[in-house]
Amino acid sequence: MPLDMIIGAQWGDEGKGRVTDMLAAQTDIVARYSGGDNAGHTVTVQGDIFKLHLIPSGIIHPNTTCLIGNGVVLNPAVLLREMAMLTDRGIDVGSARLKISRNTHLITPAHIALDKAKEARRGNDAIGTTLRGIGPAYTDKTSRIGLRAELFANPEELADQIQAHIAEKNEVLTKIYDAEPLDADAVAAEYAQFAQQLREHLVYGSVFLDAALKDGRSVLAEGAQGTFLDLDHGTYPFVTSSAPTSGGVLVGLGVGPRMVGRVIGIAKAFTSRVGSGPFPSELDGELAHRLRGTGDKPWDEYGTTTGRPRRVGWLDLVMLRHAVRINGLTELVLTKLDILSGLDEIRVCNAYQLDGETIDFYPSDIPSLSRCQAVYETHPGWQEDVMGVRELANLPQAAQDYIHFVAKEGGVPVTAVSVGPGRAQVVHL
Ligand code: IMP
Repeated sequence: MPLDMIIGAQWGDEGKGRVTDMLAAQTDIVARYSGGDNAGHTVTVQGDIFKLHLIPSGIIHPNTTCLIGNGVVLNPAVLLREMAMLTDRGIDVGSARLKISRNTHLITPAHIALDKAKEARRGNDAIGTTLRGIGPAYTDKTSRIGLRAELFANPEELADQIQAHIAEKNEVLTKIYDAEPLDADAVAAEYAQFAQQLREHLVYGSVFLDAALKDGRSVLAEGAQGTFLDLDHGTYPFVTSSAPTSGGVLVGLGVGPRMVGRVIGIAKAFTSRVGSGPFPSELDGELAHRLRGTGDKPWDEYGTTTGRPRRVGWLDLVMLRHAVRINGLTELVLTKLDILSGLDEIRVCNAYQLDGETIDFYPSDIPSLSRCQAVYETHPGWQEDVMGVRELANLPQAAQDYIHFVAKEGGVPVTAVSVGPGRAQVVHL
């Protein structure tokens, strides 16, 4: 069986969790391959809302096994809280269902303290990180001084490495950032507890997936963040510290490209972004308020992890084509079409004006991108409520035209459109 991928085609928060949930019903294994608890996946099942940050959304389906892959950075405290929340709600998170790759890197309180200290030091130039320690944990990984989950199987080595790690970070925290040092003994004791609770979940992730695929089982790679937060292909430096793109799946799970089947991009029918950085099709005022929602519903445009209001704008097809190219998308799922209902007209950015020239590609440097002005095409809107629609033919003609336009200009077939937060509120094309 192939490995299918779910990839965010924008700046994250595209609704990947709900698409994972949709596909997980027919999938044996769902695996997270990058990021950490900076992600926030909201899944609504019969009115019940699940907010997950680390555990793959597939866990909600009883017959699915979940893997936290080697490309993830894992905060064990958050993982255990999430496991407890799911257990309370009757969901089995035992070691037969939830596995952790031994190569997964750990986030510690020192990474979180450093994330906060670095953001504070950046002042007005802050990235707007989620302050979850993601960047510092990946920095340690690439500096080859990270702590891996495999240490949970070796308590003495774990204790030694935590002591050395906290001692080194305390020097940086106190001498460079003038911040409070951490208590190494307390952190070591906490991580010894985590090791006891999580040890039995450890697997050799790549070996586990290889055996499953050879055995005819299906694997779904669940994306976190999105293409424009990719360390190499996003709006650097306003990005996360990992590779949420399809290349990151292979590295982050230890699976070769010959196993890949579908590469499913997820994009909202408009655009949103949390954190700083250029956003050519950004809206403000009444229209932005309208797209964002008031924040009283869990699917309104407020960060699942931080609660920050998201910046919102029209759909940007220049971005979408970039995502199709970088990821090799085989198809696209458009989410939140229902939010566009009731607008008189809908605009779509299909090119940029840069220094008097019209361009149809996404410039990779921030100074150029900051000077880009969105060039819009205007489409008629629709007034009907589409939340109850389940067939393409029953959508208003203007909504159908909008979907076909996105597929044609994006250069990728649209295979499904979500029209509401519920599991069933999907139109399959
Ligand atoms: P970090 O990943 O916490 O270091 O944050 C870096 C940037 O990525 C910030 O702009 C965050 O707001 C953004 N970011 C990280 N994870 C997500 C996500 O899951 N959805 C949307 N934005 C995210």
